[in-house]
Amino acid sequence: MTYSLELKDLRKSFGKTDIIRGVDLAVNAGERIAIIGPNGAGKSTLFNLISGRLAPSSGEVLLNGQRIDGMKPYEINRLGLSRSFQITNIFPKLTVFENLRCGVLWSLGYKYTFLRFLSNLDDANERTEELVRQIGLERKRDVHAVNLTYAEQRALEIGVTIAGGANVILLDEPTAGMSKTETSHFISLIKHVTVGKTLLTVEHDMGVVFGLADKIAVVVYGEVIAFDTPAAVRANARVQEAYLGSSVADAQGAGH
Ligand SMILES: Nc1ncnc2c1ncn2[C@@H]1O[C@H](COP(=O)(O)OP(=O)(O)O)[C@@H](O)[C@H]1O
Ligand SMILES: [Mg+2]
Repeated sequence: MTYSLELKDLRKSFGKTDIIRGVDLAVNAGERIAIIGPNGAGKSTLFNLISGRLAPSSGEVLLNGQRIDGMKPYEINRLGLSRSFQITNIFPKLTVFENLRCGVLWSLGYKYTFLRFLSNLDDANERTEELVRQIGLERKRDVHAVNLTYAEQRALEIGVTIAGGANVILLDEPTAGMSKTETSHFISLIKHVTVGKTLLTVEHDMGVVFGLADKIAVVVYGEVIAFDTPAAVRANARVQEAYLGSSVADAQGAGH
């Protein structure tokens, strides 16, 4: 059985400080995983290790069964893993369409020789139009990214993240800074565009977590202390003690 993503005894130290302290995680293809845990627990560092931004101190990262630890971010991206950042990484002076097209062209560029690349421009344009629709920005197609609302920029960022056709998507706090309405709209967008893909997302809003995730990974102080279905995590005494406490009750009370 090959996992979509697998972490084996993953560790990362900065100087003498152990930040990731032996993480094992196995994610099946098509699963949606929410990663929760207190600030400073190591969630973003985990994403940096998976996406190749940081090299692990020890341990293994496997993407579709292939070792990727130690590879460069662009190499890992080409193998089908794409991440978005807490900080928006779109080009402000390009339009919605142009931003998405960059992502699509980049993904075609490495697969084809230049001549085939040119003959694939029509495909790229079609694929880009489809992305514009998928993220619900048809009416903002030709607007410069800088002139979009915050929520629209985040939607565009999701579009850029999936533009290359990656099958494993990492999102770090995608709903940060959004209102409740924006958040619920955005979560349905994320669900919609990641159908059939493997998704790992860091999320603080417990209502969102319980509504979105097939499984929840609880990261506390550089370790995964629980990895299970939302119902099981909710009932896990160790999780309640270590982290969740009242926020679980809140999420339940909110009817999620
Ligand atoms: N490049 C780095 N150098 C040194 N310490 C770092 C670095 N990146 C993160 N850390 C530390 O690692 C810990 C975990 O950070 P982070 O992964 O950002 O946590 P989270 O995303 O869960 O809030 C924090 O104490 C942070 O200060
Ligand atoms: Mg973080």
